[in-house]
Amino acid sequence: MTGGRRVALVTGASAGIGEATAIRLAREPGAELVLVARREERLRELAASLPCRTTYVAADLTDADAPGRVRTHLEAEHGGNLHLLVNNAGAAWRASFAEGGYANVHRHMELNFDAVVRLTEAVLPLLRSSAPSAIVNVASTAGRVSRARTGAYSASKFALIGWSDSLYAEEKPNDVHVGLVLPGFIRTEGFPATELREKAFTRWIVSEPEKVAEAIYETGPGGKAERYVPRPYALAATTRILLPSLVRRVLTGGAASSLTTSTGSDGNTNSPSN
Ligand SMILES: NC(=O)c1ccc[n+]([C@@H]2O[C@H](COP(=O)([O-])OP(=O)(O)OC[C@H]3O[C@@H](n4cnc5c(N)ncnc54)[C@H](OP(=O)(O)O)[C@@H]3O)[C@@H](O)[C@H]2O)c1
Repeated sequence: MTGGRRVALVTGASAGIGEATAIRLAREPGAELVLVARREERLRELAASLPCRTTYVAADLTDADAPGRVRTHLEAEHGGNLHLLVNNAGAAWRASFAEGGYANVHRHMELNFDAVVRLTEAVLPLLRSSAPSAIVNVASTAGRVSRARTGAYSASKFALIGWSDSLYAEEKPNDVHVGLVLPGFIRTEGFPATELREKAFTRWIVSEPEKVAEAIYETGPGGKAERYVPRPYALAATTRILLPSLVRRVLTGGAASSLTTSTGSDGNTNSPSN
């Protein structure tokens, strides 16, 4: 810690869970924030509205030079300090494997996994030298249970979870805590969950970005290893391990299609978000 400052970097801060997380972290004493996403105007507006010193880097995290730009920014603007890295930016494009093929798997991996690994690699030396510090990786319950038409998204989140568990063990001796957050259905721009919110029968399973922001706080500075949001979604993950045939039966049954909601990125073939 440097003079009580706590520098936190949030990716995907221009909307949804990332924006809610920036607002939540800004309430902490000594907070200093770095916001990252592609839409500069949104980052500028959010930075101006927060009660703590906030800078931003407008970048597409899949670009080859993005991790280096973020690190250079941290060194130039925040003295090379980094106490919390929230790897939150991500997107989903629904398609069966027969429709989307490798191209769809590749674009999910590129953003939801490779970009996280590349950014973490670039700033890990700063996290170590600022320790005690933390990394929070925002995965998904879809990283435990895969549904039809979400295979590519699930693959990227399964990969993120596996890698995070390993990093947790590796960085513990360096006092860099690695936390994992696994949201279920959360109403955001990218994941509006319209199909579920339209029906009284399913509306209750959709939660809010602020709840995830609190879980991110708990698994980062709070030191928890893992949080499902809302908590009962942990049941889905446990059932997948203990009763796989039951889960397969449910997920191939008639009602299962309503659990694969359309996303903000659907129909947008070039850009990962609107
Ligand atoms: N909402 C849910 O139901 C849900 C459930 C489970 C997990 N999650 C995970 O939660 C995370 C946040 O999702 P959200 O629901 O908040 O979605 P969202 O509202 O669509 O926000 C996604 C954020 O990621 C940024 N982003 C997308 N592509 C980017 C790129 N190439 N480079 C840099 N930034 C990029 C977007 O900003 P720009 O467009 O400005 O770049 C935006 O700020 C994701 O990892 C998602 O997989 C969400």
